Amino acid sequence: MALLPIRVVPDPVLRRPCDAVETFDEDLRRLAGNMVETMYAAPGVGLAAPQVGVSRRLAVVDVSVGKESGALHVFVNPRIVSSEGRVSDLEGCLSIPDLSDKVERPERIVVQARNLEGEPFELRAEEWLARAICHEVDHLDGILFVQRLRGLRRQRAERKLKRWIERNEKTSWTPGAAY
Ligand code: NI
Repeated sequence: MALLPIRVVPDPVLRRPCDAVETFDEDLRRLAGNMVETMYAAPGVGLAAPQVGVSRRLAVVDVSVGKESGALHVFVNPRIVSSEGRVSDLEGCLSIPDLSDKVERPERIVVQARNLEGEPFELRAEEWLARAICHEVDHLDGILFVQRLRGLRRQRAERKLKRWIERNEKTSWTPGAAY
């Protein structure tokens, strides 16, 4: 297992829709394992493959950040098939350091995906888990949470993001690494 460098804005891989995973092999399982380790080290509650530079539809989510067994979910080719309600809450992203804002998301969702063996499954999620899954599925479509903001919040976040990109020289960071 290895910690992977996390890509940050304005890396174009973050804006590109990812390709579906078609091969469920050892490479995919290794990538997922490294993504889980990287997510826990960050620490974060979710990580999508494009955030480690791989434009594939793979994401990992654990809203307990490794504290609860059974809380880790691995989604290959996830698709949100239904959603209900709207709820607004604070959200951030490992690829956009120093920026968080209130994003409106569905309260409850049903997601269909495959596991690392290629077997299909369906998961019902609500609250934080639903939010994290929506955020990661957005990553797989090349969408960042800033694009989900509306009106003045959006303008303010875009300004902050622009300033941050201008100031920042790094294109990635590795959890736990010293700079
Ligand atoms: Ni994110």
